[in-house]
Amino acid sequence: MSLPAGSIIADAPCGTGRLAEPLLAVGYRVHGLDISDEMLDVARQRLRGFQERFTCEVADVKTSRPNEPLYDAALCARVLMHFPLDQQVEFLAGVATLSRTTVVINHSLDSVYHRLRRRVKRWLGHQASANYPVSNADIKELLQRSGLREVRRYRLVSLVSEAVYIVAERIAVSPQAT
Ligand SMILES: C[S@@+](CC[C@H](N)C(=O)[O-])C[C@H]1O[C@@H](n2cnc3c(N)ncnc32)[C@H](O)[C@@H]1O
Repeated sequence: MSLPAGSIIADAPCGTGRLAEPLLAVGYRVHGLDISDEMLDVARQRLRGFQERFTCEVADVKTSRPNEPLYDAALCARVLMHFPLDQQVEFLAGVATLSRTTVVINHSLDSVYHRLRRRVKRWLGHQASANYPVSNADIKELLQRSGLREVRRYRLVSLVSEAVYIVAERIAVSPQAT
């Protein structure tokens, strides 16, 4: 994704602004959405130095749908893996309506290897980091049902991490289809 500095990114959900911070630091504007005003209060405090380049609002991303996309891109991080697939679709479809084109998500990948790794971690007493990790087929369904198409995928240290980062773009809807 190459977005010019000054572009505005929707961070949904924003949480405490952990990921908004590096985006603001490299010159983007960020609008955070989160269902929890308490989380946003922490973000407001953390990001007050960026002044009006950071704005935020309380919103339920699963149900609120803007009339038109107001942002150049949207980020959806560290949330989808906490819901069953149908609710992931509700959430991501909401995020997709915020962005004019690009949506970046992260998720937890489910594979034989990662299932085994998770089982070993559970034996060792570690808590599961994702309740609803997804297979490649799930990712395809999730994106498609949310009106998105995968453009690029990134894995960092795939042997020790199940995290997957996906750059997607909105599927254009033809006028006849609406
Ligand atoms: C683990 S935090 C991740 C926040 C941020 N993306 C990050 O990576 O730090 C998950 C956030 O999702 C928010 N959340 C859960 N359900 C939501 C919903 N339906 N609409 C908006 N935010 C929601 C929670 O309030 C919480 O702040």
